Amino acid sequence: MKALITGASNGIGKEMAIYLSELGYDLYLVARSKNKLEELKRELKTEVNVYEYDLSIIDNCYKLYELLKDEKIDIVINNAGFGVFCNYSDDTLDKEINMIDLNVKCLHILTKLFVNNKHTKRILNVSSSAGLMKGGPLMSGYYGTKSYVCSYSFALYEELRRNKSDKKISVLCPGPVDTGFNKRANVRFNLKSLDARYVARYAIDKMFKNKLIIIPGFAVRMGIFFSRFLPTKILLRISYNIQKKKDKKKK
Ligand SMILES: NC(=O)c1ccc[n+]([C@@H]2O[C@H](COP(=O)([O-])OP(=O)(O)OC[C@H]3O[C@@H](n4cnc5c(N)ncnc54)[C@H](OP(=O)(O)O)[C@@H]3O)[C@@H](O)[C@H]2O)c1
Repeated sequence: MKALITGASNGIGKEMAIYLSELGYDLYLVARSKNKLEELKRELKTEVNVYEYDLSIIDNCYKLYELLKDEKIDIVINNAGFGVFCNYSDDTLDKEINMIDLNVKCLHILTKLFVNNKHTKRILNVSSSAGLMKGGPLMSGYYGTKSYVCSYSFALYEELRRNKSDKKISVLCPGPVDTGFNKRANVRFNLKSLDARYVARYAIDKMFKNKLIIIPGFAVRMGIFFSRFLPTKILLRISYNIQKKKDKKKK
């Protein structure tokens, strides 16, 4: 049994690696921080291969697939991702494009290649509760990338089902999780965060139960459910007010 996890050096991806290793999976772990991956490798009992790749560089996504396509990988977890906190007028375009390359293009490429690999039976794409909302002012591009992940994965789920494929796709949509995400996005969360270990284990367990949409945490599930009944303009105002409290520059 073998699993590939992108973004395994920290946070949710790292906890998923620990759990899958406990379940007996040999692992292929990818991130930019080789040291952190090597450290994790030393902690795990199963066989672990680490790959130092910046997956926002599209060529690296293809290179990774070429390296791993014959490794008989059962599970692919597209987890690597980050957010950019910005107003429309901020000088953040390069960062936002880099985020789209990682959160969208890399995930799409690896999903498309592995879903057509005869050995791969499960794909778990890490989106966010943001992906189920109607837009997130002040994290507009990030919410857009996560909506893409949901929309793309949901559609593939139905194509696989219609084709009577034995392959399964699941999408993880967590609310705030206590990881390195905030630091990179340069924000602070104003809502209670879930523990990364809990989220990772919950997600893997639900993936094995063939769940399509995986939302850890009752409060987030309720928030998403009730948001459906609110008009878009009202939702956007609420969302802006929640998001602006994340701004570290404001007291
Ligand atoms: N934390 C939250 O509140 C939250 C909520 C909803 C969804 N999510 C999603 O959960 C996923 C994991 O995030 P996290 O919260 O665990 O954050 P994290 O602690 O910052 O971990 C992100 C992981 O992605 C890797 N990564 C980042 N940029 C990369 C790149 N260019 N190439 C390869 N790997 C890269 C990082 O490793 P290196 O830095 O070593 O490359 C790290 O292993 C993301 O897709 C995020 O959008 C997080």
